[in-house]
Amino acid sequence: MIITIDGPAGAGKSTVARGLARKLGFQFLDTGAMYRAVALAGLRGNIDWGRPDDLARLATTLNIELAGDRIFIDGEDVSEAIRTQETTAVTRYSAANPDIRAYLVERQREMAAKADFVTEGRDQGTVAFPDAAFKFFVTASPEERARRRLLDLQRQGESASLKKVLEDQNRRDRQDSSRDVGPLLKADDAIEILTDGLTIDEVVERMASIVKAG
Ligand code: DC
Repeated sequence: MIITIDGPAGAGKSTVARGLARKLGFQFLDTGAMYRAVALAGLRGNIDWGRPDDLARLATTLNIELAGDRIFIDGEDVSEAIRTQETTAVTRYSAANPDIRAYLVERQREMAAKADFVTEGRDQGTVAFPDAAFKFFVTASPEERARRRLLDLQRQGESASLKKVLEDQNRRDRQDSSRDVGPLLKADDAIEILTDGLTIDEVVERMASIVKAG
């Protein structure tokens, strides 16, 4: 069974997706990590961002593996490196690249064919798994999302201001929603959950009861 969770950055998607997967005994697929990994490889390879074909070619040479919470490129654990502000800033080049999207969506389908999965991203219910058994669209207000992102960054030892985080987030929201390929979009049959004021456990519980009710 496939359960998809889509929504904007900072809505708490990853945490609830992991929690739901654990609760149901499903595997978890963080598809944002895959776009981040391609962008990180581009940074390291000094890719010219103005040449999308070069990045797409590089993407197909990478062995990207996901194991639980960790992500590996060609065997190297890059779980932290993909989440720095530097990598986050250039991830739009992989996310907006149609060839890379097509390639990664194929990889996602291959992985998800092997077991029960909770997959998480922007296009999971619309493009990657339109026939998913359950689709959730998780949101939170921009201010709430920026506060959560700032806490995450501080936990990773990065400094940032709430104002900067909010500005970056607004820009990424616009990029995510206006992208021609795989834009952030609520599937018609997705269940929307606004997480402001809810704990992670409450969100996971709400989703799990919807799934169990079938
Ligand atoms: O969820 P995240 O912040 O780790 O995602 C990183 C970037 O990748 C974000 O800008 C949106 C993009 N993304 C995407 O375009 N499609 C997905 N399925 C997942 C993430």
